[in-house]
Amino acid sequence: MPLPFPDLPFQWDANPDVLPGAAYGPGQQAVLNADGLALARRCIGAWPGYAPTPLVALPGLAAALGLGGILYKQEGDRFGLRSFKPLGGAYAVQRCLMRAVEAATGRPVDPDEILRGDHADIVAAVTVTAATDGNHGRSVAWGARMFGCRCVIFINEAVTEARETAIAAYGAQVRRHPGTFDDAVRAAFAAARREGWSVIPDTTDGQVVEAPRDVTQGYAVMGAEIIEQLAGGPAPSHLFLQAGVGGMAAATCAEFWRHYGADRPTTVLVEPEQCACWHASLTAGTPTAVTGDVDSFMSGLACGEPSALAWEILHPGAHAAMTLNDDAAPATMRLLAQGWDGDPPLVGGESGVAGLAGLITAARDAGARAALGLDETSRAVVIGSEGATDAALYEQVVGRPWQEVA
Ligand SMILES: Cc1ncc(COP(=O)(O)O)c(C=O)c1O
Repeated sequence: MPLPFPDLPFQWDANPDVLPGAAYGPGQQAVLNADGLALARRCIGAWPGYAPTPLVALPGLAAALGLGGILYKQEGDRFGLRSFKPLGGAYAVQRCLMRAVEAATGRPVDPDEILRGDHADIVAAVTVTAATDGNHGRSVAWGARMFGCRCVIFINEAVTEARETAIAAYGAQVRRHPGTFDDAVRAAFAAARREGWSVIPDTTDGQVVEAPRDVTQGYAVMGAEIIEQLAGGPAPSHLFLQAGVGGMAAATCAEFWRHYGADRPTTVLVEPEQCACWHASLTAGTPTAVTGDVDSFMSGLACGEPSALAWEILHPGAHAAMTLNDDAAPATMRLLAQGWDGDPPLVGGESGVAGLAGLITAARDAGARAALGLDETSRAVVIGSEGATDAALYEQVVGRPWQEVA
């Protein structure tokens, strides 16, 4: 039976500036190094409910695509928040609070002191803020509640009510701002300057880098888990990573680069065509914003401006960038829910499945397949970065509630 996947327009281009055989260098170390990863693993590993998320093999789908293997990292199970995002936003909140307590007490602070609530009075006086398309704000709000500080989250007009409610459920104040995600980012920074709040952005124009670096180091825990889960088996040949501002892709690319060095997997960025700022940036050789209506069904990827911190990793590190039509996401969600040819059924949200949608699209196109070196020996890793973060939308697309699929 042919794979139920539509032929849709897509584009892919090689990154002319990639350093394929290069070692992980000082520029990359400044974003993610062994100490940064170790601290993130120690902090996050101590949070209640921490467990590595599953890396699920999809041999049925791999065979249908003429590939050697597909491994899907199922982030829908992460801390009950249904996405990988708590690894970044909530971790950056903990680091922000550690710095606030260190400034107030004049001595180094152990992460467990923040987790235990040893400095509740200092922490309660801190307000953290962030802009979000849904998942990052939920993560920051969840972290703020876990550690006991105040939280104000900015969302733009396209964010669904379900996502707004999910953020407010963690006790955060939610402010809806007209315009795009990038406008909401600017609004969060302006409010923080006015009110003396701490911004926890997952993106940066290069000026504020501390919190985005914390976010990236927290995300890298996911890559470290995958590498441990792959231990003993053959090394992966390809990574297909969806990108919004690029933080998740940068963290994952960096961790694989740190571990595998010059033998790291071919890394392909995947974005919706109307907000493909990474495709635009890598083909131009310079960070490039895309404007106009950057909204996408893959709402977590609806970002028009790449993060300057992610650029340090992905400019030399990503081998190629591809753009997808929005319709690729629902087709992939349904395919995963069905479980192709004996594969386990999986719940993947609209942004969560984008990397896999990119892999499926590239593997079915003779030109992209050959150029990216995809064949029956390939072992591709994708990150299922969210489950049903919007349960009603999931049911509408897949035709069944996510609980039934899971
Ligand atoms: C589910 C999901 N996947 C991927 C991404 C992309 O992450 P980044 O913006 O760090 O590129 C996001 C961002 O919000 C997301 O929510």
